[in-house]
Amino acid sequence: MSHRSPDFHPALRLIHWLMAAAVLAMLFIGIGMVSTTGPAYVTLVAVHRPLGIAVLVLVLIRLPLRLVTGAPDSPADLPALQKRVAWGSHMLLYLAMIAMPLIGWAMLSAGGTPVLLTQSIILPAILPHDLSLYAVLRQAHTLVALLFFALILGHLAAALMHGLVRCDGVLRSMTTGHRSSGLPPSPCASGPTVDAEIGNAARASGVGTEMERHAANVPGGVNGCVVQSEAGRQ
Ligand code: HEM
Ligand code: HEM
Repeated sequence: MSHRSPDFHPALRLIHWLMAAAVLAMLFIGIGMVSTTGPAYVTLVAVHRPLGIAVLVLVLIRLPLRLVTGAPDSPADLPALQKRVAWGSHMLLYLAMIAMPLIGWAMLSAGGTPVLLTQSIILPAILPHDLSLYAVLRQAHTLVALLFFALILGHLAAALMHGLVRCDGVLRSMTTGHRSSGLPPSPCASGPTVDAEIGNAARASGVGTEMERHAANVPGGVNGCVVQSEAGRQ
């Protein structure tokens, strides 16, 4: 039996959400950039470059921290295939978080454009000036962005499935954590909930309302979960 923490380290959780906001912003800023020729273009590019480099810096802090602090165990009842898909998709997310900024930086270097972070901070070129290389990297930046976006959509769907359907503590391990106190019991709190107990009482007495009778018969009952996982991250 594992005694690992059921939650990601608080610093990892903070970086996860900072990076989630930054990467989503970057995808939309990037699309905004290539969709306009107006004055907004200059502003968007001026935000896109330093924010992209900030993503690279954050992921380089996050990876060693993740290796040192580890991750919670997967819910014991999660099918092996789903565990493998989750692991693989997290690896691809990390890869994309490193690759996107590097491709952006390399692409501008190959295009001969200085990578300005601010008016006074200019990053060195990481590739020689080569326009055919620029063309390849420019296409790669678009392609990897599309794959990244698709991955994030799948990741979001999986997080919602854990949080709203399985209620197995996975979403909480990346949000408030399991030891947050002073909060009302979450609809997905593990163990019997007030709602589940109402359901049991209704079943025992046979006098429950329609909803209570439903709660008695459906695992997880009226607590919003289709499946209440008993083997989640408790
Ligand atoms: C997480 C990191 C990044 C993400 C998610 C991202 C995303 C995007 C997206 C979605 C586009 C539009 C692609 C298209 O529709 O063709 C784009 C374009 C672009 N990005 Fe990034 N990017 C990132 C990092 C960077 C970095 C670090 C730089 C440069 C230092 C950069 C420079 C550019 C440039 C120059 C364009 C093309 C602008 C144009 O053609 O007018 N990107 N990016
Ligand atoms: C938009 C809403 C998002 C939600 C609700 C969300 C939720 C979560 C949750 C619940 C986990 C823990 C999963 C587990 O342990 O199996 C997780 C892990 C992870 N998330 Fe997100 N996430 C979001 C966005 C993002 C974005 C945009 C990225 C990429 C930039 C990202 C990258 C990751 C990675 C790499 C992990 C694995 C953590 C590790 O094991 O080190 N997430 N996320």
